[in-house]
Amino acid sequence: MTGRYAADRLNQDILLTSGHFSRHYGVPMALFLWKKSYELGSPEVDMQHRRLVGLINELSDAMMLRQGYRAIPHVLEELVDYVQLHFTSEERLMNEMNYPALTEHREEHLDFTGKIIELKERYTRDHDVDAGELLRFMCEWLKNHIVARDQEFGRYMRRVEMGLEE
Ligand SMILES: [Fe+2]
Ligand SMILES: [Fe+2]
Repeated sequence: MTGRYAADRLNQDILLTSGHFSRHYGVPMALFLWKKSYELGSPEVDMQHRRLVGLINELSDAMMLRQGYRAIPHVLEELVDYVQLHFTSEERLMNEMNYPALTEHREEHLDFTGKIIELKERYTRDHDVDAGELLRFMCEWLKNHIVARDQEFGRYMRRVEMGLEE
């Protein structure tokens, strides 16, 4: 299986699990279900990725109950904390593993950090952040980065463990 095919398959898994919510009593269920196949093999980094999925589910659950606007300040607060902690952990691990694509990967982290800070500032200034916009942004990050770019690093780590990389 080629790397690109694996990434596409993972993206499909995520799309298939999105939008699930109970038809009973209107009680929302998790928008995304975390799968073992998304794990990189680093307990610290994997737990942090689950935390982002938890935030996505927290916001989508609130939106299902038409309470999305109430969840925004907490989710933004958590995201600002998350990017500092998670990107530091992940980049440290990449550095330790001599990951050749670290520079490009860091660029994506910087881009995401900038967008989160912009959203947080916009919200603080005049509450001009829509729950749907925030949810779409987080889902895109999960789909395009965590199960794509981060998985490329996961495959690299597995090759290193098998002695296939220097
Ligand atoms: Fe990550
Ligand atoms: Fe990353």
